[in-house]
Amino acid sequence: MPDNKRLKNIADAFDVSRQDIGRIIRDFHSEMRKGLSRRKSSLKMLPAYVKKPKGTERGEFLALDLGGTNFRVLALRLKGKRRISVLGSKKFILKKKHITGTGKTLFDFIAGCIKTFMDEYKIDTGQKHNIGFTFSFPMKKRRISSGILLRWTKGFKAGAVEGKDVVELLNESLERKGLHNTKVVAIANDTVSTLVAKSYEDKTCDVGVILGTGTNACYPEKQMIINIEWGNFNKIRLTPYDRTLNHLSQNPGEQILEKMISGMYLGVLTRLVARDLIREAIPEAFKAEHMSIVEADTSKNLSHTDKLLKKFRIRDSKYSDRKLLKKICAIISTRAARLSALAIASVVTKIDPRLSGKHTIAVDGSVYEKYTGFSRRIKATLKEIFGNKKAANIRLSLTKDASAKGAAIIAAAVGARSF
Ligand code: GLC
Repeated sequence: MPDNKRLKNIADAFDVSRQDIGRIIRDFHSEMRKGLSRRKSSLKMLPAYVKKPKGTERGEFLALDLGGTNFRVLALRLKGKRRISVLGSKKFILKKKHITGTGKTLFDFIAGCIKTFMDEYKIDTGQKHNIGFTFSFPMKKRRISSGILLRWTKGFKAGAVEGKDVVELLNESLERKGLHNTKVVAIANDTVSTLVAKSYEDKTCDVGVILGTGTNACYPEKQMIINIEWGNFNKIRLTPYDRTLNHLSQNPGEQILEKMISGMYLGVLTRLVARDLIREAIPEAFKAEHMSIVEADTSKNLSHTDKLLKKFRIRDSKYSDRKLLKKICAIISTRAARLSALAIASVVTKIDPRLSGKHTIAVDGSVYEKYTGFSRRIKATLKEIFGNKKAANIRLSLTKDASAKGAAIIAAAVGARSF
């Protein structure tokens, strides 16, 4: 089959058509309803035991942000007038041994990082300190201060943590490090923290979305915020490439939407498709960030792509192959952006079926922030779904670094204490 015919077939397989749009939104709503009423559903709809903040919360807190290979510790001051200041912040890198070893190794490492941070910022460990913990994985909760890990996602697999309360595990590690007065008092998913942080300063915010290594969203139901865990949505048509990726993944059958949208998987999909079209194999190190560079390449002969491929030891790529690679990246990222828009549209219309009010969506994550054209494609798809006028009621607001701030605000709901 000639290349352009094969490319056309692939583009068709990854297309999200107008017909798909209506069906996916209906299925999304139906899965949301089932999840809320505890029936079997790919959407877990996990109660967060957190409400939207008032904007008057005050105090000083430590905040932790764990959800990918970076782990961050922050000291934050909530000023009580919708303003937060960062008193200190430090990033730590998790190694493979932390992510794939035992839970004890992981949480002892984290507790060690907290100790390092407190030493560095001369925070008196003799005093009482409350920690807000953003833990970006699916958790079952019964109160604000506990979170039972349902299952790891995004390549984490530290042993003996699933089914356990991660707050207890971390508090035990803090004790072991001698931090007897430093305690986790509140835990939340990153989507929840992002929504809380944005709505601390902007009352109209009612959805928190992450489009990064993983993907997910939350919104307020009548009683409290619900963590949708939309990455696990599975009422979508899979291409043969999705099936291969799913099969190769650590969690086959789970996180189907996430495997089509999020940064952890976009590069893998591109490589799988490229394998069928391009002579040279694209190496594993080729990730979403590289796809973005290729898509942004408007140079004659795609010389930036050539340079990038050279870094990956593909020294004499043909122009025709570079062009194909660019098209493949566009096909895969366009589907990802369109599916993201559909998921956002589903949540907003769950809150406001006629879209009669204004909605601010707090969005964070590397794919949304950095991938060339991603946010533009989401916005275009929202217009396609709702028409220009109604779509203008949805405002996507990039909310960087919100998840740590949100953790501090949530901790404030439990009790304040100065450093
Ligand atoms: C994964 C996690 C989810 C998190 C998301 C974004 O989907 O399961 O809890 O919110 O990644 O980090």
